[in-house]
Amino acid sequence: MPSAKPANGRGHGGRIALVTGAAKGIGAATARAFAEAGATVILCDIDEEGLAATVAELQGEGHRTFRLDVTVEEDWLSALAEVEKVFGRLDVLVNNAGWGTLRTIFDTSFEQWRKLIAINLDSVFLGTRHAMPLLEKSGSAAIVNVSSIRGLVVGVGAGPYSAAKAGVHIFSKATAIECAATGRAVRVNSVHPGFVDTPLSRATSDEARAARRQSVPQGRYATPEEIADAILFLASDAASYVNGTELVVDGGFTAT
Ligand SMILES: NC(=O)c1ccc[n+]([C@@H]2O[C@H](COP(=O)([O-])OP(=O)(O)OC[C@H]3O[C@@H](n4cnc5c(N)ncnc54)[C@H](O)[C@@H]3O)[C@@H](O)[C@H]2O)c1
Repeated sequence: MPSAKPANGRGHGGRIALVTGAAKGIGAATARAFAEAGATVILCDIDEEGLAATVAELQGEGHRTFRLDVTVEEDWLSALAEVEKVFGRLDVLVNNAGWGTLRTIFDTSFEQWRKLIAINLDSVFLGTRHAMPLLEKSGSAAIVNVSSIRGLVVGVGAGPYSAAKAGVHIFSKATAIECAATGRAVRVNSVHPGFVDTPLSRATSDEARAARRQSVPQGRYATPEEIADAILFLASDAASYVNGTELVVDGGFTAT
């Protein structure tokens, strides 16, 4: 069971943290934040150029990058085998990589549906399933899954993405209680960002972005760093009794 005594306080000094989708956006901000907090970061993505640029600017030494497609089981197995060889354990897994596009259910082909489910949900299953043996070796590990406000509330055109992100939400809770029930010292929580200023959200039109800003009580997009802060908190021993829950970081959007 998770230790009642925080091992690391609020920092991440000496910890090994794996972040998917770390080449840009929220994942890159999360990698930077973990490095600043003293962790050794394993940055994974399909964008190798982006990975190289992100890792080059990280504080501290010993960080690693892997070309890992989160939908491909073999990629997980080979990256984690290397992590085991080099570090022998994993303290934090952030399942962040994801993708979405505005499309109604009726405009979505089965192929597009399967792509959304694979990148957003299969990815979380594969990471959780295969990283678990290394997380168990930590003694005080945490998984943070990046869902979305769209996993909690829907909007027209976000149906298939919402279904995938709702899956991430409930899968996180299920993993948390299964870990606890089986004596694994791994906490599992999900983060639900609202509108965040990243390459993904910049793909929408100026009009749509303005409408989104207006719909947020705080009147603006989040920065990727604001989401990274929430992820670091949930992964830290400051959250040692926070388990199987969700942290919404949306400027008040879902409160209205
Ligand atoms: N930006 C937002 O407004 C917002 C809101 C809520 C939730 N989210 C979620 O936050 C997470 C990060 O989003 P972001 O806005 O930083 O996106 P982004 O597109 O800016 O960055 C995502 C990263 O994931 C990588 N990626 C995509 N497919 C991959 C795959 N198959 N394997 C490995 N890496 C892959 C991309 O190369 C990219 O580097 C996603 O899960 C997204 O759904 C974003």
